Amino acid sequence: MSELIYCDQAATSFPKPPEVIAAMERALRDASASPGRSAHRYSLAASRIVFEAREAAAELLGIEDSSRVAFTLNVTQALNTVLFGLLPPGSHVLTTGLEHNSVMRPLHRLAETGGVEVEVVPGPQDGPPDPEEFRKRLKPSTRLAVVNHASNVVGTICPAAEIKTAIEGVPLLVDAAQSAGVLDLTPVDSLSDLLAFTGHKSLLGPTGTGGLWVSPRLDVPPLLHGGTGSRSELEEHPDFMPDTLEAGTPNTHGLAGLSAGIRSVLEYGTSKIREHEMELTAAFLDGLAQIKTALVPGPRNPADRVGVVSLNLDGWSPSDLALTLDREYGILTRSGLHCAPRAHRTLGTFPMGTVRFSFGLFNRLAEIDTILTALDQLSRRTP
Ligand code: ALA
Repeated sequence: MSELIYCDQAATSFPKPPEVIAAMERALRDASASPGRSAHRYSLAASRIVFEAREAAAELLGIEDSSRVAFTLNVTQALNTVLFGLLPPGSHVLTTGLEHNSVMRPLHRLAETGGVEVEVVPGPQDGPPDPEEFRKRLKPSTRLAVVNHASNVVGTICPAAEIKTAIEGVPLLVDAAQSAGVLDLTPVDSLSDLLAFTGHKSLLGPTGTGGLWVSPRLDVPPLLHGGTGSRSELEEHPDFMPDTLEAGTPNTHGLAGLSAGIRSVLEYGTSKIREHEMELTAAFLDGLAQIKTALVPGPRNPADRVGVVSLNLDGWSPSDLALTLDREYGILTRSGLHCAPRAHRTLGTFPMGTVRFSFGLFNRLAEIDTILTALDQLSRRTP
């Protein structure tokens, strides 16, 4: 078997740029201290790392005030913070049929135990949600809408800016897990009021990093209360950003990596990264169209999706197909439901799921040919 082909970028990006690895190594060596807590040189070095990561995130989002970005351990924590913070009993929330469980599970919990009415806006299987469908469903009790900016199952891009306009006055929470680092997020307030992101996917950083941007027009109460290094004389948790959403020692070493990852993305340019992913996705979709037994849900047009393509091959279970691709061809994918059963229901691929191929900055066009050859061979064979 020749080199491995990594097509699980939607789970986490690989490889990480050398700059990310070097930044983390430096942080582990020179800044292993709690940021903002002490006044010694290592603590100051750690504070600088966190500050620089915040500035990098602000640049990515096209904003001046980096204090509106709070770091979290992952996008799930950022999403949970908003959902549990802004949906009191009696409130109504709108969402899409393409959400990940990081949204659906908190919403399920809120519906079961928090008196929240959750409404899933019906959407087309093969295209983006319609903003007008959101507007039609607004009620006096609607307190929030939450949308997956790009589906982790089929890559469908959600028209967040148009939905924000359609529901004007109701805050829009955007789950940018699969879009940050690929789609242009600037200026962030043109497409959201709250934007949750992860550091370890297209932002090229390590796991254990993520964040939440909160519009200056909104206050989000904390999910966690604890030490922040600020207002230490009080037992009351601070109410100002970003401290209010950053209880506990942050993942400073991870943030050093995230900072370097975001800087790499800014250097490549999201438009170039997007162009590259679209080229790979277009070539893959074109090739799949020639494989008669391949079923490919989601948008037909590569412009309507990020570099995420799910498929099934007639006669193959997703797990057998993924296992064979790995064992015999060294092609690494993710099979099953991708923590997104709601999306699979919408796409008609529940409960079996699909095999997901997800591409990123470091995948090459030649790899797409190899994958297509493998799938073509497997389509002619029974498992
Ligand atoms: N949410 C990640 C995925 O889609 C882990 O694989």
